[in-house]
Amino acid sequence: MKRVPLGIEGLDELIQGGVPKGASILVSGGAGTGKTIFATQFLYNGATKYNEPGLYVTLETNLKNITWDMENFRWDIKKLQEKELFKIYKLNLAEKDSDNIEEEVLEELNIISEYIEKVGATRLAVDSTTSLAMWIRGAAAMRKTLFKFTDGLKKLDCTTILTSETKGIEKTNISAFGVEEFVVDGVLVLYMHPPHRTLFVRKMRGTNQSMSPHPFEITENGIVVRSKEEVPWEGIKL
Ligand SMILES: Nc1ncnc2c1ncn2[C@@H]1O[C@H](COP(=O)(O)OP(=O)(O)OP(=O)(O)O)[C@@H](O)[C@H]1O
Ligand SMILES: [Mg+2]
Repeated sequence: MKRVPLGIEGLDELIQGGVPKGASILVSGGAGTGKTIFATQFLYNGATKYNEPGLYVTLETNLKNITWDMENFRWDIKKLQEKELFKIYKLNLAEKDSDNIEEEVLEELNIISEYIEKVGATRLAVDSTTSLAMWIRGAAAMRKTLFKFTDGLKKLDCTTILTSETKGIEKTNISAFGVEEFVVDGVLVLYMHPPHRTLFVRKMRGTNQSMSPHPFEITENGIVVRSKEEVPWEGIKL
């Protein structure tokens, strides 16, 4: 089996060198746990270390957040964008027309898929799946659409990071809608319990994974996982 290194220091060694090629991985956590930085770093590493084009998909109208992060870490996205090694795509959903939302989401999937084929992108990040909820009324419709969307992404020839926001009160709460974690091939959970941050590999199909939570830091170069250190489960106090 081919593996795709995430390229995040200390992380790949917890999962036999990387995630299975073509897998979809959920990165979940509460507000400010580092999900966006994680997703961006995965794409940035792909583009700069492995020459793999990547696509960042978001629903936010405000793209400042990702630009701030990239500037802050001195990741030169302009150069990567010019070389088609990095692209930001904002999902285009009509705000009022909630009845056709499922169709619209699936149409967006086609646009994503066409772009991926066009530039030969092998890395994709969707940040975050939770923001789809602003367009979709009702938990049942949300689950169904989210399932179809994630399932559609899995058919693309891409290794995908999906982010999901959790409320962060329960350690076992690993996604916003309770469907994401079952559709994906792997789940990484990020916790923040000041002054500490912890990462736990909750699931990684086809992989002999670390069974322990590990401390991580957000440094001036982005996320660094302390793979040799372990955090006792009881030590994660949210
Ligand atoms: N250069 C930096 N050095 C250290 N920590 C940083 C740096 N830049 C950002 N951070 C930390 O990362 C956090 C933001 O991370 P990120 O935006 O990835 O979180 P998130 O999980 O996506 O949050 P949200 O739920 O709001 O989308 C900040 O709150 C801050 O604590
Ligand atoms: Mg974010």
